[in-house]
Amino acid sequence: MPIHIIFLAAAIITLAPRPVLSLSASPPPPPPPSLPLLAPIQKDHTTLRYTLSVYLKTPPQRLDLLLHLGGRFSWVDCYSGNYSSATYRHIPCNFSVCVPLDSLACGYCYDRPPGPTCSNDTCEYFPENPLTRKVGLEDALLDALGLPSTDGSSAGRVDVVPDFLFSCAKPDLLAEFPKGTSGLAALGFSNVSLPVQVAEARSLLRCFALCLSGSRSAAGVTFGDTVITYAREPAAEYYVGVTAVRVNGKVVPLNATLLAIDEESGRGGTLISTVLPYTALQTSIFRAVTQAFAREASAAFNLTTIQPVKPFSLCYSARDVGVTRAGPAVPAIDLVMQSEDVFWRVFGANSMVRIQRKGTDAWCLGLVDGGAEARAAIVIGGHQVEDNLLQFDLGSMRLGFSSSVLVRGTTCADFNFTTDNHT
Ligand SMILES: *[C@@H]1O[C@H](CO)[C@@H](O)[C@H](O)[C@H]1NC(C)=O
Ligand SMILES: *[C@@H]1O[C@H](CO)[C@@H](O)[C@H](O)[C@H]1NC(C)=O
Ligand SMILES: *[C@@H]1O[C@H](CO)[C@@H](O)[C@H](O)[C@H]1NC(C)=O
Ligand SMILES: *[C@@H]1O[C@H](CO)[C@@H](O)[C@H](O)[C@H]1NC(C)=O
Ligand SMILES: *[C@@H]1O[C@H](CO)[C@@H](O)[C@H](O)[C@H]1NC(C)=O
Ligand SMILES: *[C@@H]1O[C@H](CO)[C@@H](O)[C@H](O)[C@H]1NC(C)=O
Ligand SMILES: *[C@@H]1O[C@H](CO)[C@@H](O)[C@H](O)[C@H]1NC(C)=O
Repeated sequence: MPIHIIFLAAAIITLAPRPVLSLSASPPPPPPPSLPLLAPIQKDHTTLRYTLSVYLKTPPQRLDLLLHLGGRFSWVDCYSGNYSSATYRHIPCNFSVCVPLDSLACGYCYDRPPGPTCSNDTCEYFPENPLTRKVGLEDALLDALGLPSTDGSSAGRVDVVPDFLFSCAKPDLLAEFPKGTSGLAALGFSNVSLPVQVAEARSLLRCFALCLSGSRSAAGVTFGDTVITYAREPAAEYYVGVTAVRVNGKVVPLNATLLAIDEESGRGGTLISTVLPYTALQTSIFRAVTQAFAREASAAFNLTTIQPVKPFSLCYSARDVGVTRAGPAVPAIDLVMQSEDVFWRVFGANSMVRIQRKGTDAWCLGLVDGGAEARAAIVIGGHQVEDNLLQFDLGSMRLGFSSSVLVRGTTCADFNFTTDNHT
């Protein structure tokens, strides 16, 4: 059955300029007339991170890039195997994409022959590895970006964005990236992120959707709808306005000050990350939530904890845990937004992680302690986002989300983008 993103959106989050996504009960945006562009996403089971496939250069070359929801701009290793393309261009330093925030540097080149990584009066960016926080200083380039598109009846055509802006990077910036990746795909809150450039190039709405799959065999997909600097700050991450956490319907007592973003320091708040495998909670929140979870699992599900398996701290014998369509039968965790009836419900499939090794077969609560001084109170990680459909509408500053699509009997790996007149 073809699935249309819009009809899965159960709630809408408002993107505030920060960008804080606070949930609002407003109706979902009208359905887009088409779903033109999409890019397959694969999970790398070694690093527990996600990669997105695109085509770059002329003739087009397929690249796998680390998916980074909080990235400002994309970057690609231009050094390994020689950057060869008939369509690349440098950007003169006086162009607007080179103004502070996006770039602070203007590059010149004396020591090498001119090429993709050597040019005079050229805009330079500061590509950052989000896993190691290492930063480079490299030429920005424009080149042809290809994304598969669907015309409503078949997938497989590749549509080209002629002047896609990205930064070069040296291969050592790829440290800790999934094997086979050659850069980073930035989907963050910025004017030069991948979805925004695609939208601009095609005069479409600034809108994209993300459906991550943990499946080993099939790919999840992100797609533009009518689609939608050395600047560690301001962040390009998407924040969600979580005001409370419930476990099995009961509010967990928390220091609510931490849940709000401190305007001065920028600390606190809840953000969504695709480069963190598991949700990280500030220490006091982590303790409160795991305690509440253990209590409810025992009282309502008759579950007894076993010796925990690192990095987790709350585990149950898989033998004792029942199974539902939405994963193991455990207390649901609700991330409550600005009103009680607007919440992101995390079912067992997203809250629990199966650990099978050395005679252990356990389901562990897939949350980790982010530390007492964590930058954000809650960082929602990849495992908790899988099989949830998220639609980011940067035009109206809203995020539509589905909660687990598993309860609807489907998964992000099963998405079929060939639709019958989009019905
Ligand atoms: C890259 O280009 C240089 C100089 O043109 C050449 O010596 C080298 O073999 C090339 N490397 C690859 C991997 O193609
Ligand atoms: C950049 O500088 C060049 C040469 O000085 C000039 O011709 C061009 O109009 C400038 N472009 C912008 C966008 O300011
Ligand atoms: C950059 O300009 C310098 C000085 O004019 C010149 O020596 C060098 O060859 C130029 N480099 C490139 C890549 O054009
Ligand atoms: C995008 O650019 C516009 C105009 O230059 C600016 O007002 C806006 O703040 C920028 N948005 C982001 C997310 O950088
Ligand atoms: C709550 O957190 C804030 C920010 O870290 C802290 O200043 C405050 O003392 C905390 N309140 C309690 C009751 O722990
Ligand atoms: C709870 O589990 C224990 C064993 O783990 C079992 O003996 C007991 O009957 C269970 N109680 C209920 C009410 O299911
Ligand atoms: C996807 O949907 C189309 C149209 O309904 C159908 O013809 C096609 O077989 C489906 N593909 C898959 C892989 O399910």
